[in-house]
Amino acid sequence: MTSTITSSEIRLVSRPRGLPTLENFERAQSELAPPRDGQVLVRNLYMSVDPYMRARMHEEAYMPPFQPGQALTGAAIGEVVQSQASGLAPGDIVSSAYGWREYFVADAADVRRIDRPFQPVSTHLGVLGGTGLSAWVGLNLVDVKAGDRVFVSGAAGAVGSIAGQLARLRGCFVVGSAGSAAKVRMLRDELGFDAAVNYRNGDLLGELKAAAPEGIDVYFDNVGGEHLEAAISIMRPHGRISACGAISTYNDERPSPGPRNLFEIVTKRLTIRGFIVLDSLDQMPRFLAEVTPLVAAGSSFAKRRSSRGSTAHRRHSSTCCAAAMWERCW
Ligand SMILES: NC(=O)c1ccc[n+]([C@@H]2O[C@H](COP(=O)([O-])OP(=O)(O)OC[C@H]3O[C@@H](n4cnc5c(N)ncnc54)[C@H](OP(=O)(O)O)[C@@H]3O)[C@@H](O)[C@H]2O)c1
Repeated sequence: MTSTITSSEIRLVSRPRGLPTLENFERAQSELAPPRDGQVLVRNLYMSVDPYMRARMHEEAYMPPFQPGQALTGAAIGEVVQSQASGLAPGDIVSSAYGWREYFVADAADVRRIDRPFQPVSTHLGVLGGTGLSAWVGLNLVDVKAGDRVFVSGAAGAVGSIAGQLARLRGCFVVGSAGSAAKVRMLRDELGFDAAVNYRNGDLLGELKAAAPEGIDVYFDNVGGEHLEAAISIMRPHGRISACGAISTYNDERPSPGPRNLFEIVTKRLTIRGFIVLDSLDQMPRFLAEVTPLVAAGSSFAKRRSSRGSTAHRRHSSTCCAAAMWERCW
């Protein structure tokens, strides 16, 4: 290719206050120069819309904040269109951090070739990507093992659905929470959870006590807030909490008071451990070695994915407005 290529991208226009709106984003065109030596031109096929992106829309974030006027970034799977780099050829499927755009040109070092892509290739954003790694790392962090009684919140979401299934495969009793009757049915009937509760029924703690009358040993926290408080209440002595996220709080203007029962961490001798999956990327090969055969064997994992077509993300990600805009573009 000798001429430039025009690519659509989604840019942050202004930092959202509370729930993001479409006005916080714009669709724009950019002109890409042809790839130089050592570079590739990639056409994106799928991107992941993740809750952490909401945090990056703040001026101060635990990761580099998105900047107004610039395209958002995030995990994506694409196909090499042109290559000036050895080891990468047109047609290769690659993962990158260049989401929110149609095409991009990057150094070969900034993309990772997927040697034997699963179909759909979005699997490499979901169960075989950062989402699956997050679930796996979060379970390992608190040493989840056979016989544990595990509660997973946000269980119908990308991370929660995988964490719950992995815990089940390890021989745990698993309870999940979700926000609709249909999702509760899916957790029980399709994904193999032992029990599931609808937190929108208005009595989360009561429903959890009924679903896990003997209490829980492990809480995989995706939600924070009321869920964390309820989980602490039903934890057995020496229980472990894996603090993955707190999605119920991400659109809050200011931090809300924490669980009112934190003293139970003392009386029950609980352990709570947080993690950021980016710190664990070196564990990717071990994770893939363990989980790829499960996916290949046709477990229900393959049903959960992070992609621009995922209804879970369209409806429930804290960045849903940006996702809606992305969908309009293609
Ligand atoms: N620590 C890390 O490195 C790391 C890595 C990846 C993800 N995370 C965290 O993991 C969590 C899940 O991420 P994900 O990728 O699975 O996102 P996702 O696919 O968008 O799922 C999030 C789920 O959260 C639930 N939810 C949203 N708002 C809620 C609320 N106010 N109360 C209760 N549930 C609510 C939704 O379930 P319903 O529709 O059923 O309400 C949705 O299914 C997030 O907190 C994220 O920040 C952390």
